[in-house]
Amino acid sequence: METVSRRNWLKSAVALGAGLPLGITLANELMAAPVSQAEKRHGVFRPGKLVRLGSNENPYGPSPKAREAIKASITEHNRYSFAEAQEFKKVLADKEGVSPDHILLGAGSGELLALTGMGIGIEGGAVLSAFPTFRTLMEFAVRFNARWDKVDLDETLTHNLEAMASAAKPDTKVIFVVNPNNPTGTVLDPAKLKSFSEEMSRKAIVYSDEAYLEFLEPGQQHSMIDLVRKDYNVIVSRTFSKIYGLAGLRLGYIVAKPDIIRKIAKYQPGTIISQPALAAAKASLGDNEFMSFTRKKNAEARDYFCKYLDSKKWFYGNSHANVVLFPAPKDGKTILEETEKRGFQIRIWDYQDKEWCRVSIGTLDEMKAFTKAFDEVIA
Ligand SMILES: Cc1ncc(COP(=O)(O)O)c(C=O)c1O
Repeated sequence: METVSRRNWLKSAVALGAGLPLGITLANELMAAPVSQAEKRHGVFRPGKLVRLGSNENPYGPSPKAREAIKASITEHNRYSFAEAQEFKKVLADKEGVSPDHILLGAGSGELLALTGMGIGIEGGAVLSAFPTFRTLMEFAVRFNARWDKVDLDETLTHNLEAMASAAKPDTKVIFVVNPNNPTGTVLDPAKLKSFSEEMSRKAIVYSDEAYLEFLEPGQQHSMIDLVRKDYNVIVSRTFSKIYGLAGLRLGYIVAKPDIIRKIAKYQPGTIISQPALAAAKASLGDNEFMSFTRKKNAEARDYFCKYLDSKKWFYGNSHANVVLFPAPKDGKTILEETEKRGFQIRIWDYQDKEWCRVSIGTLDEMKAFTKAFDEVIA
């Protein structure tokens, strides 16, 4: 992959200033990139109406409260949201127990992953992560100047924290951890993750991506936010796309020490969060009724799907989120073609010279229909 040197970055910045959609192109290229040879040949996110089991979305969102708030915000849609965004940052800061200068809002947490990858990658060195995992930060870092050091998951498809600690090098700048992980939904032991983050953040910035954390029961949601409050070199990222079901509105945020926030924010090209996104997020935040509804429905549909995988005696990661990864029972490209013909979109990943199916959890009815179709696909 071609890297972007400091000089090229300057040129890119000039191109952005000239109104060329370079940032958008790069984001599309990297964030919607194929994750396997099969996807390279078949294509990803092809047009057409499919049951979406390919993007780990929330099929129940937006919540009733968010829908009302979006409607009510219409009278403000002709106004820039500077004041509303500031106000919302305060709400988030109170929730997270930090001051507002610890918070950066983004057009989805994906934007913040991309900016972190750029801001750190441009200085060279390395970013370290498990593999497979959500790749945006590392893809941007590589494109900008850094090396991506990958550490395979363990045999249960969970992050191997010991191996990751050993893989950190003197030039490692960011250590990226996703908990629960995408594409596996597997979770880490909270005490182990905490001591790993404490220890490793003395050497590099630890980025704790908690996009799916709220899929766990409230008592089991062990965020690394406490380390941010204690001034560790830790970034926590959260999104309104998953449990809150607002993926299409694009709003996420990171929490970190103000100097880290400033370093990342300076690469943000004038993102202004939209009025409906802010209204919906404000109404959604802490909506326990909708969160537990989603959690319950997701667990029901995931259990159904895991029973199906059990009935086939197929190995899969122990998912606590809305996604499951299992070895592809036949050639990946054929699976993509045949599931698509039957109206479903899933993903194929390459990992350890094998192909893997990544299936997002939809509604129970969707999973019932999908397992029927999948039986035909593999027949
Ligand atoms: C682990 C993880 N982080 C971040 C994101 C980005 O989500 P968004 O940009 O919608 O916040 C995703 C999306 O699937 C994800 O899986």
